[in-house]
Amino acid sequence: LKHFFGFKYCSSKRASTKSAAAKRESSITKDQYENIERKPFYKLLEERKEQAERSVLVSCPSNTSEKRFLKHMSRHGDINNCFFYESFGTYAVVEFSKRDGVLSVFESASIPNFPHEAAVPFKSRLLSLKTNNSGDLASSQPSVKVLSQTAIPIDELVRRLSKKDSIDQQLLLLTNILQLTDENIRLRFLVCSLLRDIAASYFPECVVRPFGSSVNGFGKLGCDLDMFLDLDGISGISQEKTGSSYSLEYQLKRTSTERVATQSILSVIGECVDQFGPGCVGIQKILNARCPLVRFSHQPSGFQCDLTANNRVAMKSSELLYLYGQLDERVRALVFSVRCWARVQGVTSNIPGAWLTNFTLTMLVVFFLQKRSPPLIPTLDHLQALAGPKDKSIIDGNDCTFVSDLTKVKLQENSDSLEHLLLEFFEFYGNFDFSKLSINIRKGKEQGKPEAAPLHIQNPFQPALNVSKNVNGTQLQRFVSLCQESAWLAQQPEVQSRSDTPWGLAALLAPLDAVGKGKKSKRRRAEAPSARIKGLLESLRTGKASANGGSTS
Ligand code: GTP
Ligand code: MG
Repeated sequence: LKHFFGFKYCSSKRASTKSAAAKRESSITKDQYENIERKPFYKLLEERKEQAERSVLVSCPSNTSEKRFLKHMSRHGDINNCFFYESFGTYAVVEFSKRDGVLSVFESASIPNFPHEAAVPFKSRLLSLKTNNSGDLASSQPSVKVLSQTAIPIDELVRRLSKKDSIDQQLLLLTNILQLTDENIRLRFLVCSLLRDIAASYFPECVVRPFGSSVNGFGKLGCDLDMFLDLDGISGISQEKTGSSYSLEYQLKRTSTERVATQSILSVIGECVDQFGPGCVGIQKILNARCPLVRFSHQPSGFQCDLTANNRVAMKSSELLYLYGQLDERVRALVFSVRCWARVQGVTSNIPGAWLTNFTLTMLVVFFLQKRSPPLIPTLDHLQALAGPKDKSIIDGNDCTFVSDLTKVKLQENSDSLEHLLLEFFEFYGNFDFSKLSINIRKGKEQGKPEAAPLHIQNPFQPALNVSKNVNGTQLQRFVSLCQESAWLAQQPEVQSRSDTPWGLAALLAPLDAVGKGKKSKRRRAEAPSARIKGLLESLRTGKASANGGSTS
């Protein structure tokens, strides 16, 4: 996500001698890293949104010539940026330097005629490149360089990690490999902007904003696109005092609760997306969920999309995680590695259920880092104390205020290496008394559990809610056992020392259950966990352990 933040970074100002000595994949020095301007979250979002509004998405025939395509598109205006990718065909994202470029495209594009079908004549910034008869745009030799928008398979990741010289380097490499690329972020904001154009047919002043892992700094290639329909620009306008004896207000249809209003807004927008949204397929309206949403696939980008409305608290959570991720590079490296480990070990799943979610895992990492001695990151209460008047934010009666200016946050001198932090993370949660204690990142302290849920993580902005309410006892126990097993494994000399077989973090990404697969599975399952991990160690030594060739998504 380095481009999203507007810089490339390579070293932590608080990294240990060992990790600082490690050569990073990227290229800037510690001094440069410290001097980089870290933009506030909303400023970055605004820049990306504005960039997306000047962009179009074009489906290109497979024999498109990049050079000729760019020449053709630049007839409409100067191009700031263009890249190609594949998703059910080849697509190009073209960002013009001015919005006029898009308007010029609209003027020249035509509505197609389908011989035996009819279509809704909805004009959008999703277009198709057509080859004219003279073959002006096409070449028999396609020359388009496509950029991958998906994460590499886990076995490839394990192979690349194994080549590194230290575990610290492995964690940083994993982050670099899995994080969203600049292009992927552009595409995410562009899809939001395309969705906004559809929703604008009902609400012209609306904005569709990405939140969650698309923007919080912890997004992995292939993660879903969480969006929310922001109508504050409409309803938030306070009435001007004109001094006149009369004023006018809009007549509105009333609903019993805000939730009902959100449901009906999402219902019509969902219908609109379904009927008129080019490339939007598989629309599901999940309006009775705690947070009502419309889910669909956006085929041209390949993104699984969740559109919500009235979800400002989730935006604040995203901002808070972004801020934590920006304070010290070890935060993102540890979150990415723990998330990846959890996915491989089956702690998290793509299917909704009683599993821990990535969001829950991130909260666990944040809490763990607050509990280091000295703390690696501050508590939310501390971030609130640093807030200025402009940071004030009250949502539904809850105080969601915290500092937005990253430069105001002064960290303590914690020099733990990533290798040490990863091991400590497993030990910390392998021994945590989940039965009695609740996790509170606002205070950076565990507290007595207010309710009987197996895992209790207080929602930092809605204290009455538990972020991990969905997690059942079995899944929590699985997480705890896997933390214990991984802590044990991480301390074995075979895992700690560099070798030709998966070692260090790469060894921890081999599924611990995989050892029990095949003929011996019944016997293995009956064995104590330590026997299973010894078996894994054995297979690592003989090079037979495979990270099951699955994907990291
Ligand atoms: P991935 O999509 O798994 O990469 O991570 P994500 O952080 O985007 O999680 P997800 O798509 O599940 O949810 C999107 C956002 O909604 C999160 O980042 C949170 O801000 C918010 N969110 C998700 N689950 C919860 C929850 O249980 N409670 C609260 N308060 N917010 C949640
Ligand atoms: Mg998400």
